[in-house]
Amino acid sequence: MKKTILVTGGAGFIGSHLIDSLLLNPNHHVICIDNFDPFYSVEQKKLNIEAHFKSPNYRFIELDITDKVSLHESLIDVANIDTVVHIAAKAGVRPSIQNPYAYQITNIVGTQNIMDIAVEKNTKQFVFASSSSVYGINPEYPWSEKNNVLMPISPYASTKVGGELMGYTFSHLYKIRFIALRFFTVFGPRQRPDLAIHQFCKKIMSDENINVYGDGSTLRDYTYVGDIVKGIEAAMSYDKSIYEIINIGNNQPIKLSELIDEIEHVLAKKAKINHLPEQPGDVPVTYASIDKAKALLGYHPDTSLEEGIRQFTAWMQTPNYYKS
Ligand SMILES: NC(=O)c1ccc[n+]([C@@H]2O[C@H](COP(=O)([O-])OP(=O)(O)OC[C@H]3O[C@@H](n4cnc5c(N)ncnc54)[C@H](O)[C@@H]3O)[C@@H](O)[C@H]2O)c1
Repeated sequence: MKKTILVTGGAGFIGSHLIDSLLLNPNHHVICIDNFDPFYSVEQKKLNIEAHFKSPNYRFIELDITDKVSLHESLIDVANIDTVVHIAAKAGVRPSIQNPYAYQITNIVGTQNIMDIAVEKNTKQFVFASSSSVYGINPEYPWSEKNNVLMPISPYASTKVGGELMGYTFSHLYKIRFIALRFFTVFGPRQRPDLAIHQFCKKIMSDENINVYGDGSTLRDYTYVGDIVKGIEAAMSYDKSIYEIINIGNNQPIKLSELIDEIEHVLAKKAKINHLPEQPGDVPVTYASIDKAKALLGYHPDTSLEEGIRQFTAWMQTPNYYKS
């Protein structure tokens, strides 16, 4: 039986990878909504989705999820949406400190609008892209979903806490299953240009200095995008309870200095480092417990940092990489 799946943010880094995978199944009908937010190159987002248009099971709607009326009108001909994967958001910690209002509007009001669409279209399952940043400066590592002490330290992070809470109310009121997935520092081909691996690879390749904030001791639980997609797809078919929050991480935090060593190794080139002070909003550690994801979703990340960086740098050499 055909399944209609709405993916918001499907032109971005994670969303476009999810759609690559969903379209492999001929029983999926995928509707992608994205407004080509200019946070980074619109050309890159267009390249991310170019191949999707070859599928008869793909429909793209260029739309801002904060525009409730247009959202409703653009989907007027769609009777049912089986599953919503809500990925669209203003992402990024540091820019959210500059413009918290925009983050509230897209990540809170936009999320409410997508929940309203789910109710209107008899949706059964709603998967929400949350973030490890909700744990913030909680010092109890590894971060477990059972530990519900959230200490978000950026406006971005608090909008993701908001989305998770809105999801609880929504699932309770409308009996729509809501699964919030807390992603941990995602990397791989198409990674956003503001993120460290992308910045470092690009700059080291072109002999530019890289900016390193702090002393290099911050830890991140880097998770390959292919593993994230497997986690999302497992969450799309999870049916044991009505509301869950699940970490999708790697359970192997890596020091920033070790990340740079690994990139130098893959590129066979030394980095020129520009040391700068730590940035407000940046947390010292991210470290996922993935026991719950293993138990509920059968999630087992299996792409190493080295392999993921190789995949990323190989993508940078293809015509699908927009050289800005
Ligand atoms: N990349 C990570 O490391 C990471 C970690 C944790 C959580 N997340 C979350 O995962 C999701 C995807 O992240 P990403 O790295 O792929 O980011 P991305 O910016 O590449 O993708 C987000 C997409 O949403 C779209 N979008 C933004 N505002 C919109 C609006 N108002 N209407 C319609 N579309 C809109 C953008 O155009 C973009 O294509 C986000 O919700 C992000 O918060 C990402």
